Amino acid sequence: MKTNVIKTAFIGTGRISDLHAIEYLQNPNAKIVALCDTDADIAKGRAAAWGLTDAIIETDVDRLLARNDIDLVEIMVPHHLHLPIALKAIAAGKAVSLQKPMCLSLQEADQLVEAAEASSNQFKVFENFIFYPPVIKAKQLIDAGAIGDPISIRIKSNPGKSKTAWKVPTNANAWRQKKSRSGGGPLVFDDGHHKFALAWFFMGEPTDVHSFIGETTTPDGTVLDAPSIISFRFENNRIGNLEVVYSPELEIITQHYAQDDRVEITGSKGVLWINCGHGRIGGPPPLAIYRDGNVTNYHDIPTGWEQSFVMSTRHYIQALQENTQPSLTAIQARKILQFALAAEQSSQDGKSISID
Ligand SMILES: NC(=O)c1ccc[n+]([C@@H]2O[C@H](COP(=O)([O-])OP(=O)(O)OC[C@H]3O[C@@H](n4cnc5c(N)ncnc54)[C@H](O)[C@@H]3O)[C@@H](O)[C@H]2O)c1
Repeated sequence: MKTNVIKTAFIGTGRISDLHAIEYLQNPNAKIVALCDTDADIAKGRAAAWGLTDAIIETDVDRLLARNDIDLVEIMVPHHLHLPIALKAIAAGKAVSLQKPMCLSLQEADQLVEAAEASSNQFKVFENFIFYPPVIKAKQLIDAGAIGDPISIRIKSNPGKSKTAWKVPTNANAWRQKKSRSGGGPLVFDDGHHKFALAWFFMGEPTDVHSFIGETTTPDGTVLDAPSIISFRFENNRIGNLEVVYSPELEIITQHYAQDDRVEITGSKGVLWINCGHGRIGGPPPLAIYRDGNVTNYHDIPTGWEQSFVMSTRHYIQALQENTQPSLTAIQARKILQFALAAEQSSQDGKSISID
């Protein structure tokens, strides 16, 4: 990609696009030039909120992609549309940032991997949790030997209620309740992508997955795939699990989704805790380490969840300018999707699933 300002179009300007916009509005190397949504009012509302008075508003993806004044598209649509829109964008010669999960099945993922690898333009699946500042700091510490060799990761997803959370549009919940559009449950498959990405980021390649996926209906009628527990093994004799618990009366401190996320990584010499994600409960240090009888708390780390989007977007803009490989690549994203699909499959089949 050329090194001048990257002209960017958003495809899908729903709930999450607000967090994608932050870095584009402040980074001198990229600019949002067009907003495409089948609902023109949503796109116009975002343009006004972001101060983009001269942005092109489009309702048709094909017309948007036919424009030659767009270098990069950020795709943020319901999951069943990821494959067709991403394939069209690649074919139209655009660089692509595709929200997670890359698509609904491994067969679809293979098509995307093939198209992305054949393209001369960059392709990234947008995973933000691995760019969350406490996660980046934890990885640096672990790589520097702070807890010895990591042996186990325990991840907790804990949605609840929140007085301060943002409003989620009814439509954004509606498509997530249909498996044909979402590909799986809202917590284990959709949000779970982030947790499987974290597990992969810290522990390496997964080899086996076993899950029990429950079901709970919230007061507003939303069906959640919780309580659930997913266990996994990795290469090098490492293990981990993801526990998903919906606590209807648990007050979460957040400006985004009413959910807390916590991670504990046990190593051969110490233990590390990441104490916040979407939100938090109380005011724990975002990162803490126990080693040699002492606890070290790390307070001075940005913890707004939007920072994970800022850092992930900044990483891609830099990768586009320097022509380096972004994370997640198509192959990496396929691996995370395989991890998430194995959790769904294991619960259905009542047995462990091997990942090749
Ligand atoms: N990384 C994260 O932490 C995170 C968090 C939330 C959502 N997401 C992802 O972002 C994507 C969007 O989620 P959301 O919560 O913003 O959903 P949403 O329903 O709020 O927004 C989707 C938007 O896409 C538009 N749309 C639908 N079909 C379209 C089409 N053919 N062309 C153009 N626009 C179309 C809809 O009108 C809507 O405005 C999903 O892939 C989701 O998994 C990621």
